[in-house]
Amino acid sequence: MKYLIPLSLAMVSAVVATDRPITVVNDCPFVIWPAFFTSSGGQPAQAAGWEAQPGTELTLFAPDNWNGRIWGRRNCDFSTSPGPNSCLDGGCNGGLVCNITTGTGVPPATLATFDFSGESQDVYTVSVVDGYNLPVVITNTGGCGVASCPVDLATSCPLALAGPFDSDGVPVGCKSACLVDALAGNAANSSNCCTGSFDSESSCPSSGVEHYSYFKTNCPNSFVYAFDESSGTATWDCAKSSESNVAYAVVFCPDISTL
Ligand SMILES: *[C@@H]1O[C@H](CO)[C@@H](O)[C@H](O)[C@H]1NC(C)=O
Ligand SMILES: *[C@@H]1O[C@H](CO)[C@@H](O)[C@H](O)[C@H]1NC(C)=O
Repeated sequence: MKYLIPLSLAMVSAVVATDRPITVVNDCPFVIWPAFFTSSGGQPAQAAGWEAQPGTELTLFAPDNWNGRIWGRRNCDFSTSPGPNSCLDGGCNGGLVCNITTGTGVPPATLATFDFSGESQDVYTVSVVDGYNLPVVITNTGGCGVASCPVDLATSCPLALAGPFDSDGVPVGCKSACLVDALAGNAANSSNCCTGSFDSESSCPSSGVEHYSYFKTNCPNSFVYAFDESSGTATWDCAKSSESNVAYAVVFCPDISTL
């Protein structure tokens, strides 16, 4: 018995100092089902998907080499054949808990991306490259820039991009032009996706991406298309500190008056 670690200490030691806290907040007036996917680096200890009631939050701890994404899923029902079609958008292989190797999420979905693998800085974005499904902001304790697409783009979405729609016909997403091309089977050579003959920065200017200005005007601090880094407001970074790591919050449906 004397070698047992008291529970409180065991819980503290499970979260090693280098783990990166990311608090996922649902400020939407409806239930969402957040999820994450690890592109590279270690896995956060938490299950990769959960239900979030309005006004609730959950802090996940990502390894300090984590490169991954967090997004929200809308209008989910996991009661029959849980999988990518269990949600109107954002659903994943696995159902409520996304499969850690294949559960990347069905677009359109606003993505909060993080890359902690850099030597000296964290890099993060709010990406609508694959479309939009919820307002999202990434705040931080480091006094660094705020990545965001904090407004409702579903209801103002250009007709050609709108949807999917809920059972009342209300849009719960806004596709990117690249996603529309992909759904039509045209993603291999697309000026919207920067593929094929358009696969370089010079051959894929933002002016050639349909509806670029709709997204960038409404969400100037989001990542809108493959080469959006040149806008200067697409990717955000925050210096790593050996003293105390920066903590992040991913807030769905943020109160924009506080930004
Ligand atoms: C995740 O998907 C892979 C590939 O389809 C499958 O082999 C694995 O069993 C799945 N994992 C879980 C936990 O279902
Ligand atoms: C891609 O499409 C363009 C027309 O939009 C065409 O000129 C070009 O040859 C195509 N490239 C490839 C690699 O298919």
